[in-house]
Amino acid sequence: MSDTTAIESVLHENRVFDPPAAFARRAGHVHVPSMEAYHARHRRSIEDPEGFWSEAAEAFDWFTPFSKVLEWKLPDAKWFLGGTTNICHNCVDRQVDAGYGDDVAIIWEGEPMPGGRPEVRRLTYRELQAEVSRFANVLKGLGVERGDIVTIYMGMVPELAIAMLACARIGAPHSIIFGGFSAQAIADRVTDAQSRTLVTADGAWRRGKVVPLKGNVDAAIEMAGIVENVVVLKRTETAIGWTDGRDHWWHELTASASEECPCEAMDSEDMLFLLYTSGSTGKPKGIMHTTGGYMVYTALTAREVFNLVPDRDQVYWCTADIGWVTGHSYIVYGILPNRVPTLMYEGAPNHPEPDRFWDIVERHKVTQFYTAPTAIRAFMKWGDEHPRKHDLSSLQVLGTVGEPINPEAWIWYHETIGSKQCPIVDTWWQTETGGQLLTPLPGATPTVPGSCTLPFFGIDAAIVNEQGEEQPANTGGLLAIRQPWPSMLRGIYGDRPRFIDTYFSRIPGMYFAGDGARRDERGYFWIMGRVDDVINVSGHRLGTMEVESALVSHDAVVEAAVVGIPHEIKGTGIAAFCTLEPQHQPADEAATEALRATLSAHVGREIGPIARPDLIRFTDALPKTRSGKIMRRLLRDIAAGEDNPQDMSTLEDQSVLAQLRGT
Ligand code: WT7
Repeated sequence: MSDTTAIESVLHENRVFDPPAAFARRAGHVHVPSMEAYHARHRRSIEDPEGFWSEAAEAFDWFTPFSKVLEWKLPDAKWFLGGTTNICHNCVDRQVDAGYGDDVAIIWEGEPMPGGRPEVRRLTYRELQAEVSRFANVLKGLGVERGDIVTIYMGMVPELAIAMLACARIGAPHSIIFGGFSAQAIADRVTDAQSRTLVTADGAWRRGKVVPLKGNVDAAIEMAGIVENVVVLKRTETAIGWTDGRDHWWHELTASASEECPCEAMDSEDMLFLLYTSGSTGKPKGIMHTTGGYMVYTALTAREVFNLVPDRDQVYWCTADIGWVTGHSYIVYGILPNRVPTLMYEGAPNHPEPDRFWDIVERHKVTQFYTAPTAIRAFMKWGDEHPRKHDLSSLQVLGTVGEPINPEAWIWYHETIGSKQCPIVDTWWQTETGGQLLTPLPGATPTVPGSCTLPFFGIDAAIVNEQGEEQPANTGGLLAIRQPWPSMLRGIYGDRPRFIDTYFSRIPGMYFAGDGARRDERGYFWIMGRVDDVINVSGHRLGTMEVESALVSHDAVVEAAVVGIPHEIKGTGIAAFCTLEPQHQPADEAATEALRATLSAHVGREIGPIARPDLIRFTDALPKTRSGKIMRRLLRDIAAGEDNPQDMSTLEDQSVLAQLRGT
């Protein structure tokens, strides 16, 4: 489907789905049961944000009460000023202190071992407290102090959640790197964060194969230096390199560590974590999130958006990897304070069989399920017989996140997974926003396939033009947030100018999200995609320039231009146009194919497998304007197979066109 037909079908979407009656029945209790209730609370949150958020903050333990709710000096927001707390305490210890130590905090489902049955581990809050405290003491023993950044590079094992909570416990901000990223990506992040301590595993399981995490870490440290200590969890039991004095086994250090480790009292505005994400220029940037506001906002959104209710046999499952913000906020930090078990799954959606997810939903009686449109589209393709094999009647709420969901996928999700009994919450947010900003509330909001509907409490979102003027209904514009919210980013690590430039310069006085969007006549938001050079591949964010840099770092490539193209499963795929060094010109079709494979593998090594182009085309020249700018729009049209690309009047060399088209 081309970009324009995608937008067309969205424009014509007018099916409205009221919250299914079965939802309230299955849930037993609904936090926000009507649109009246939503509007009343939203109005209050906008008219009196300080009153609203101060009440929301009462749900948490504070070691010192905050004296002021908000200080806003554009672009700097401070929330819950003067307050001290600890998010690990509120996720774990508070539950134990309140008598829920034996409740299940984390359910972990392992990737099926080759030929074997899946492993399941259940960690109660008490066990989690002991494990987290032990590992916190391990970190301290390695010299990690409050304020030191700890890098974590692991697969989806419980120890990943344990490591992050341990960091939070001692006030050491974590920087988690998705296990699919390359050695180079680790080196860049470790260097930027000046991180001396790294937590990893020997390997991670993925479709019965081992991802060599420790090997990547070793290669990264060779490039970056800096790292003084590496803690290695034994997971795959594969052979790994070992540097004495620097490398330590997780099980050896924890065996002798104490289970007592008090939580540090953190200022509301102390950094909780750094998470690197792609922008339109340069290397990924370290998005900074702090303690108090992030804690309050993620837990409140999780509660209201997924309708989390303790003591009602709910099991919440978000299929994201903790290496992305979705996992930070909605596997760990936003869920644990709500005392509903959070399920972590180690493996892939279709291994060993394409019904893997539905088997998990059935066996664990999952009540809330949160995934990405790209996964939903893959399931559609694999066939209805896989979900139909399983009893999915435990489900109450279905969530989606990461990219626009096409109405076809929405309807399939609603009918085939939800049996029309579960509201769908299409949640729009970003690494920078920390938590969900635009989203339906399951018991209240009538939904329309493809729309993320309305702002959450406290969110003042608008569609504006470049001057910051609000646009009328059904007019496309830029998505902006006009008032600060508790979990907003506090900066880009070490790069104040880029922070101001990226988010607060384009539209005067407002947060610029980087997305184009419109509102319809009922006020619902429709996200139309990025307006910068960021592409969203399977819900994972990449900068076109990052992929271009990776391509030109190969000997064969002189110049590269990367654009997003519509992709059936991934939403957006990656198309790369490259010019080549004369001595690397492929002689025939076989050599061309071989070079494509080489470059694709090269990008995989430089960034990670998710960045591998779907289409690589070689050309003698890239289309440029007279001022030398690469004409990305034209390339997008060509890559998407549009026959009559728009706007070629400024193309410097018209003969380039035929060649680019590959004709
Ligand atoms: C970008 C942020 C939020 C966690 C995962 C992605 C796109 C996100 C939606 C949605 C349409 C969406 C936007 C946004 N996006 N959610 N529900 N509908 N688009 O976080 O990697 O920081 O990417 O993802 O383009 O700007 P991220």
